[in-house]
Amino acid sequence: MAKQFDVVVIGAGPGGYIAAIRAAQLGMSVACIDAWSTADGKPAPGGTCTNVGCIPSKALLQSSEHYDQANHHFAEHGIEVKGVGLKLDTLVGRKDSVVKQNNEGILYLFKKNKVTFFHGTGSFAAYVDGGWSIKVAGASEEDLLAKHVIVATGSAPRALPGLPFDEKKILSNDGALSLGAVPKKLGVIGAGVIGLELGSVWRRLGAEVTVLEAMPDFLAVADQQVAKEALKVFTKQGLKISTGVKIGEVKTTAKSVTVPYTDASGAEQSLAVDNLIVSIGRVPHTQGLGVDTVGLKLDERGFVIVDDECKTNLPNVWAVGDVVRGPMLAHKAEEEGVAVAERISGQHSHVNFGTIPSVIYTSPEIAWVGRNEQQLKTEGVAYKAGSFPFLANGRARALGDTTGFVKILADAKTDEVLGVHIIGPMASELISEAVTIMEFRGAAEDIARICHAHPTLSEAMKEAALAVDKRTLNF
Ligand code: FAD
Ligand code: NAI
Repeated sequence: MAKQFDVVVIGAGPGGYIAAIRAAQLGMSVACIDAWSTADGKPAPGGTCTNVGCIPSKALLQSSEHYDQANHHFAEHGIEVKGVGLKLDTLVGRKDSVVKQNNEGILYLFKKNKVTFFHGTGSFAAYVDGGWSIKVAGASEEDLLAKHVIVATGSAPRALPGLPFDEKKILSNDGALSLGAVPKKLGVIGAGVIGLELGSVWRRLGAEVTVLEAMPDFLAVADQQVAKEALKVFTKQGLKISTGVKIGEVKTTAKSVTVPYTDASGAEQSLAVDNLIVSIGRVPHTQGLGVDTVGLKLDERGFVIVDDECKTNLPNVWAVGDVVRGPMLAHKAEEEGVAVAERISGQHSHVNFGTIPSVIYTSPEIAWVGRNEQQLKTEGVAYKAGSFPFLANGRARALGDTTGFVKILADAKTDEVLGVHIIGPMASELISEAVTIMEFRGAAEDIARICHAHPTLSEAMKEAALAVDKRTLNF
């Protein structure tokens, strides 16, 4: 006899596990199926984000930043450290234990919220009277019957054609988070978010890192003033970044990887490295889901097709997160998961794609929300811009980290904030204020009038808002 549930969620990444918890909070009977396992076969819910994404990358970024500070910046504070050493196995082991705590945290949350968890692969078997028959295969073998199904099966790294990941020499994010030794020379293909974050980790730990990017502009998705500043700072830190390249046929031997490429001027080049990270984007993951069995429609790139409410072409089948259109971000997946659970329960929830923040956790951090100057110009929107440098911020000076600035773009007529772009210390935390203001459709003047604690980095946000009206107080 199949076990019956109001909602079965397939995938326990940030989209799936959050949807499951929210649906359970709303009084529905909920099951969540997830296939991810630890090396010894135990369940590892949390998806890409917890296991090989957001969490482990931030753990390594933190550790490597400490190492960099101890090596290069403690002296400025009068702290003498002699013989700074690196125990990579401890550093990577700490990252693994942070991941484990998060896996266990999600299992605890499932128990607390009475979500039934199945460890295995979930697939559509058929549409039967009253709902969807879902098979679980693997560690748990079960037949489930669901009134509603939420597909949250996430994404997988995109490989270069003809160059599969072996996770030893040719690394996806997975292998790049678990190297056993610091490479002398590390190549990175793709100067996107993963390339810059993980490239920074291994550079700080001592690798000579070269990043090869196909697009002519560096960080084309960011505001170009921010991108220019970032390129300057990263280059000064030692990342070698080439844009406008065309990658040739990569050759791998037991010892090294050779990457032939044509540079922006058209000259043939060759890069020899110990390891190569390929971070050229991710593809939606629907393997093993039984898409064809039930006719779940995918677009030409393999994303599950959904409408604005995350409804698929099948009745009572929803899809959220990386497996559907929109930015591949954990917080976007979570918001969609919550909204779908609430819609199933009859509420009219909404996800505002215009206020989803983006963050790159390099040093300095980069964060933005809303539209950038290039976009506003293309759209012909009349805007005012106000910037404030961290160099003029007291807290940033005290921290010893004055790189970057906050830039606010506001509507020329109404003063409504249209976009906020930050490069600088703790940009990831500072951006929340901008998101809040934009959610309430506030004006630059609103930020300027809000009392910000002194001395804080957030005062740079207030000053940038004052700059929109050309009345900064500290610059
Ligand atoms: P996923 O997290 O991919 O989870 C999908 C889950 O479904 C997986 O556990 C998978 O095993 C399971 N699954 C798939 N098919 C089946 C099946 N048939 N049956 C059962 N289970 C199945 N985003 C941020 O917002 N901030 C960051 O700092 C950040 N850092 C990142 C760093 C790296 C290195 C990477 C790779 C990504 C990062 N991301 C970050 C992106 C973020 O990880 C994803 O956007 C997020 O994980 C998407 O969540 P999801 O629930 O849609 O899918
Ligand atoms: P990305 O889309 O951020 O960057 C990929 C880069 O590779 C782009 O700049 C692209 O122009 C370049 N590229 C593509 N094909 C190429 C080729 N053949 N040769 C050279 N360059 C090429 O993708 P990335 O870094 O792989 O990350 C995947 C996803 O994970 C992103 O969508 C991101 O949203 C998410 N992520 C988010 C993080 C965060 O929020 N801090 C951290 C890491 C990943």
